[in-house]
Amino acid sequence: MAFYLLRKTIKDLPGVVIKAVTLPEPEMTEGFGSREKVGEICAAAGYKSVLLVTDTTLYGLGFYKKVADSLEAQGIKCTVFSDIASEPTVDIIEAGKEAAAGCGADCIVALGGGSVMDSCKIIAAAAREPHHHVQHYLHKFAIVKGKTLPLITIPSTAGTGAECTVGAVVKNAEGVKSSTVVVGLDVVHVILDSELTVGAPRSVTVWCAIDALSHGLEGLLADVKPNEEDIKKSRECVKLVFENLPVLLDDPHNIEARQKMFLAANYGGNAINTQLAGYVHAFAHSVGALYHIPHGKAIAHCMIPVVEEQKEICRKQLAELSAYCGFADGADEQAASDTFISKLKELLAQCGLEDRCEAIKEEDYKQLVQMIDADSINYSPSKTFSDGEIRRLLDMIRKGE
Ligand SMILES: [Fe+2]
Repeated sequence: MAFYLLRKTIKDLPGVVIKAVTLPEPEMTEGFGSREKVGEICAAAGYKSVLLVTDTTLYGLGFYKKVADSLEAQGIKCTVFSDIASEPTVDIIEAGKEAAAGCGADCIVALGGGSVMDSCKIIAAAAREPHHHVQHYLHKFAIVKGKTLPLITIPSTAGTGAECTVGAVVKNAEGVKSSTVVVGLDVVHVILDSELTVGAPRSVTVWCAIDALSHGLEGLLADVKPNEEDIKKSRECVKLVFENLPVLLDDPHNIEARQKMFLAANYGGNAINTQLAGYVHAFAHSVGALYHIPHGKAIAHCMIPVVEEQKEICRKQLAELSAYCGFADGADEQAASDTFISKLKELLAQCGLEDRCEAIKEEDYKQLVQMIDADSINYSPSKTFSDGEIRRLLDMIRKGE
């Protein structure tokens, strides 16, 4: 009870703190094969030596070659660091920082998924003062003198929005995943290249898209007073997923829909930066970590019960979103918000989501409640859930009610 009151009392704090962080304002280049433009972009900025960071899988698939060739065609030195793993450790990121220092990098190009993006944020911070071990930066906030090295981000998945978020999740020296907000992060350019996702497995496409949708949706439900432009981006994020994910389910090679999904993910990243996530993420992080469920799939399982629990208090936001998506006229808030949730259920069913999350075990509830409580203090939700409410919601997710 005491912890519930504490969480309720300080719930506005994350939303206030995030507003104090200066956000990067990258330019954007979009299009199939558009990573070939990185050389021109770097040449125009005057960069001389680029560290191209990617993961072992993308390296093996040769996706980095167009980037490297494009840089070399402009006479820019390109050093490839391809050791990023799915859960990057301090040692890997330290090696990345050493590689940046070794080649005298004046820019880092990040090509990959969320792990590559987040690793590069820490590398770009640490490379400013390479005498520090990267562990020096792995605290709640990584404070950099001035700005990080300039980063150009080329995401290979359309979901996390990590190409523009200021947060980085990596394993610390104890091997524990921890989240760091990089203050002074200098993402100068984002390249959204649908060629990178066109051959992705269906499950990756689907659950990444649902993750993106959840970022926009949770941003709109947060109690953080965003500006109109950020609200519009969050609504557009949700709308783009509703419009384009069904297209991709039928036609995975639809380039236009792939490109739109990248834009949705990017707007979702903006939602995380400006409005934060919320309880859907607190539940999904905890359930996903305990039962090794991919993030987007865990989000899908938790989304409906958790959003419905906030329906009364967030009816206006849901009704406006429903109207924006073209599901209702918004005049009757109750009907419009109910319609939105029905549409969300339909979309998740189309994605093939099972009715219940059978991995969850009732005997783990005590641990899960603690994990969800702890994660929830990173957000500013409109409603603070009691432990009893969290247990009831876990029951609903487990039983598919
Ligand atoms: Fe997420």
